[in-house]
Amino acid sequence: MKTSFIKVVGLTAVLAAFGSPAMADGDVKAGEKVFRKCKACHALEEGKKKVGPSLYGVIGRAAGTVEGFKYSSAMTESGLTWDDETLEKFLAKPKDVVAKTKMSFAGLKKEDDIENVIAYIKANGG
Ligand code: HEC
Repeated sequence: MKTSFIKVVGLTAVLAAFGSPAMADGDVKAGEKVFRKCKACHALEEGKKKVGPSLYGVIGRAAGTVEGFKYSSAMTESGLTWDDETLEKFLAKPKDVVAKTKMSFAGLKKEDDIENVIAYIKANGG
């Protein structure tokens, strides 16, 4: 009885140590390079519209809500919020997340690139 209690406590401790999502923090500097792929279409400055909307404040924002940008209806009706997870999926393959998005970008193949670019966006006003 007593041993099994100790085992349970021990297991819980192990799970607590390893089970908490080890959100690998992206590398901002590496992310800056990845962001070059986005730069043709996106600025991080507030209100600066290019082919795509400004990504200023994008983290945690509801999709398709930058004032004055003409989104596809697919984007405005997606009901998404750009949290880390959604953004990771979207950047891996935009059309898997918003099938009819007008963002013509195939996606980032490397998981590291995705994490790094998100870190860069976060560190620069996104
Ligand atoms: C060829 C131009 C182009 C490239 C390259 C591009 N995007 Fe986009 N992006 C767009 C367009 C256009 C939209 C609006 C899509 C819509 O309305 O369906 C958009 C939308 C977005 C959104 C949703 C914004 C919002 O306000 O809801 C995010 C986030 C985003 N892009 C991130 C990125 C990142 C990060 C990269 C680089 C890895 C990137 N994009 C590369 C054109 C581009």
